[in-house]
Amino acid sequence: MSPIEPSNSYKQKTEPKPIKAIEIKENKPKSRLTAENINQAENQAEITLRPSSLDEYIGQERLKKILMIGISAALKRGDSSSMGHILLYGPPGLGKTTCAFLLSKLIGSQAHIFSAPSLDKPKDIVGVLMSLQKDDILFIDEIHRLNKITEELLYPPMEDYCLDLSSGNGASTRITRLPLPKFILVGATTKLGNISAPLRDRFTHIQKMEFYQEADLITIANRTARILNFDLSPEASKMIATRSRGTPRITNRLCRLVRDFSAHKNTNLASAEVVEEAFTLFQIDECGLENTDREILKTLIENYNGGPAGLETLAATIGEDARTLEDFYEPFLMQLGFLERTSKGRKATPKAYQYLGYS
Ligand SMILES: Nc1ncnc2c1ncn2[C@@H]1O[C@H](COP(=O)(O)OP(=O)(O)OP(=O)(O)O)[C@@H](O)[C@H]1O
Ligand SMILES: [Mg+2]
Repeated sequence: MSPIEPSNSYKQKTEPKPIKAIEIKENKPKSRLTAENINQAENQAEITLRPSSLDEYIGQERLKKILMIGISAALKRGDSSSMGHILLYGPPGLGKTTCAFLLSKLIGSQAHIFSAPSLDKPKDIVGVLMSLQKDDILFIDEIHRLNKITEELLYPPMEDYCLDLSSGNGASTRITRLPLPKFILVGATTKLGNISAPLRDRFTHIQKMEFYQEADLITIANRTARILNFDLSPEASKMIATRSRGTPRITNRLCRLVRDFSAHKNTNLASAEVVEEAFTLFQIDECGLENTDREILKTLIENYNGGPAGLETLAATIGEDARTLEDFYEPFLMQLGFLERTSKGRKATPKAYQYLGYS
């Protein structure tokens, strides 16, 4: 059988290995809607708590409005996928994956969830594209981590819903253009700046995920408590919300900690006192800062005279992974006005000195 490989105008200097036709056929998407595929870090508890309808998807009003306008206009045209591709960006845990699931529900199609590093070979993305059906959602998490070859293979499918495959070698190379069903690509990233302009410009909607307001986090905490089968007093849900760093995933995590602590106290009602005691034990302060947050700021202040200190240097000093620092800890510290990212490195602000009791 003649070898077929993804082609061509986007081909890189390092040529992808030829892909045999039979390999593409057998390369079914690794799985659909399974826990492994959604996000390797996700656990069963998070899946249970994931909103399954738009009503349960609290907050993000602007994003919901924009998507609803896009969907209803596309449905009026009788062509869901004409709403275009969607790029969602923002810190982890704000609801990007959940949004892709809800979108597929609203459209009535299937969501295929992948993380960019799992699509590192050309045959991976080719196999995935060939398995799509009309109006399906192809969700690629961490899309900024797609390798260049895979990224460029996505350009014709995104723009023209077709896949260019080349067969043969050298002068006998032939290009076969395969039509694909119209699909919607939803890309998610924590780093918009790391996405190349050609990829970014192929998205119709580029939407920022906002940190959540306290009132929304209270609603999420109450819903989570209901699902986890325990009661939260109104003060207790407020305390959880204010310590959630504007992030629903953290609200869910704190709810689980509080539930377990309440069970340890032999009560099913988490009162303000119980929650206070739990947070003291887990060393979560009234702003939602945990040990690592305080260590980042203290290290900057004590070891680097407030900064600037480079990300890698700071990460090595506190023994934390640089990416986790950058993606998870820093956005919230910046949001609180405790940390600044400058061209020379990270700096602790006067507000951080004051908060931690330094003069
Ligand atoms: N708007 C929301 N309303 C209620 N719960 C939410 C909302 N958004 C997120 N959640 C909760 O937070 C959890 C994490 O959300 P999700 O996995 O969608 O975040 P993400 O932005 O994809 O994170 P990551 O960048 O780490 O992939 C969900 O399982 C869900 O329980
Ligand atoms: Mg996600």
